[in-house]
Amino acid sequence: MDARKTDAAHYDDTVVRQFSVMAVVWGVVGMLVGVLIAAQLAWPELNFGIPWLSYGRLRPLHTNAVIFAFGGCTLFASSYYVVQRTSQVSLFAGRLAAFTFWGWQLVILAAAISLPLGYSTGKEYAELEWPIDILITLVWVAYAIVFFGTIGTRKVRHIYVANWFFGAFILAVALLHVVNSAEVPAGFMKSYSAYAGVQDAMVQWWYGHNAVGFFLTAGFLGMMYYFIPKQAGRPVYSYRLSIVHFWALIFTYMWAGPHHLHYTALPDWTQSLGMVFSLILLAPSWGGMINGVMTLSGAWHKLRDDPILRFLIVSLSFYGMSTFEGPMMSIKTVNALSHYTDWTVGHVHSGALGWVGLISMGSLYYLVPRLFGREKMHSIQAIELHFWMATVGIVLYIAAMWIAGVMQGLMWRAINPDGTLSYSFVEGVKASYPFYVVRTVGGLLYLGGMLVMAWNVWLTAIGGRSAKALIPAVHAAQA
Ligand code: HEM
Ligand code: HEM
Repeated sequence: MDARKTDAAHYDDTVVRQFSVMAVVWGVVGMLVGVLIAAQLAWPELNFGIPWLSYGRLRPLHTNAVIFAFGGCTLFASSYYVVQRTSQVSLFAGRLAAFTFWGWQLVILAAAISLPLGYSTGKEYAELEWPIDILITLVWVAYAIVFFGTIGTRKVRHIYVANWFFGAFILAVALLHVVNSAEVPAGFMKSYSAYAGVQDAMVQWWYGHNAVGFFLTAGFLGMMYYFIPKQAGRPVYSYRLSIVHFWALIFTYMWAGPHHLHYTALPDWTQSLGMVFSLILLAPSWGGMINGVMTLSGAWHKLRDDPILRFLIVSLSFYGMSTFEGPMMSIKTVNALSHYTDWTVGHVHSGALGWVGLISMGSLYYLVPRLFGREKMHSIQAIELHFWMATVGIVLYIAAMWIAGVMQGLMWRAINPDGTLSYSFVEGVKASYPFYVVRTVGGLLYLGGMLVMAWNVWLTAIGGRSAKALIPAVHAAQA
């Protein structure tokens, strides 16, 4: 019997399917907003004088949509898929899993309405107001029950390493959210942080950096450890290294947050501590990357004609790049140049577009045909096209931001012999203009690739039967 059919009979994939489809939908929406704000930075009149289209409101909409809606839905989908296969049981508390889907969509919808209306706590990546924070907490507790419940009822003794990463992501995000969002309500959709002054800043960037470490990294490493070996048809290069990778990464990330607050009122030793831990972080990050890439040992040729594998592997090269760049930027003297400039934005997007985006797309391309009972995606050529549009888009985006960023840093610090500034701020803005245009073109290409994906997913979905629909056929065949 077809292995895929047996698979579908044992596992609860409805929620996986729902999250996968919504990941693509939110990806398109979030990137569209990204392109709009990128264009606004080049042509500010694109806010049309409408308050809810203003940059300050759309920027958090973009970050929330790409991180929590696109990234979040991919994480839910892949973790639910992987934990079932590696535990050999269907999801624990299926109804609760359904609640996580609808609850998470409600959170996203609430964000999409409240942020353009101007409701914000002002804390980056934690802008949503307290009633939405409570909903997030409820969904997250349900997620933890479903995920760890599935692990708890597993039929195999071993807990596969991908689940360790997914588990750490779920636990750490719960901790980060509860601590950083502690706030005193002052009316409906208005609150004040429980912390003040420099403590508030420290808690915020402990959260912010670990949002990168756990939301944008650990869960996606879970995907790496499952989907790369599957797609390549090879075992993980070194299982022992994967365990060292896990513990070293989890331990180190938690301490690096102060690198976001160099040269601020934060005590100097705290900044230095953040810098040292950021430098140490290079080792586990690269250990993990090498483990992923080397999984291809003996199967390198597959990269030539498998665009899905290419998405997965190229994402790791961007992961390697951004986790080299990050530690360098955390060195205080380097940060003195890079901070406040577009270099940071370039770094963010080499991680976000290159690592998070590409590994998500590769994983979704693996999942979608299996979830809809198809042999493969509707069009392999379209995956190929998407890969090149995304890659060229990323290169344009990050190269433009690197040049603009270093230029801005150098212009701001240049002084004349008499000690006065060589350039006014607006001269720096003017010099950045061509790079903002190039970034917008890169973003358009990246968004275009995502639209190609949406088209391909749609045709794959309507062309196939849902995997659930296969179940009666499987039972009939087994009977
Ligand atoms: C079409 C693709 C995208 C475009 C055109 C785009 C554009 C932008 C722009 C213009 C900004 C504001 C930069 C500034 O304030 O100077 C931004 C910020 C940001 N974007 Fe994107 N973005 C895209 C995709 C993504 C994706 C997929 C992710 C995450 C998975 C992401 C994560 C972020 C983050 C975290 C920030 C805040 C950066 C910071 O505070 O330094 N973006 N993006
Ligand atoms: C070893 C790993 C990494 C280290 C040590 C690191 C370090 C840094 C440093 C020093 C900054 C600049 C802080 C500032 O001047 O304000 C930064 C910003 C940032 N990085 Fe990384 N980075 C790493 C990996 C990544 C990855 C893989 C991603 C994305 C997936 C990422 C996303 C971000 C974001 C979103 C910001 C901007 C935060 C903000 O100001 O809003 N980083 N990182």
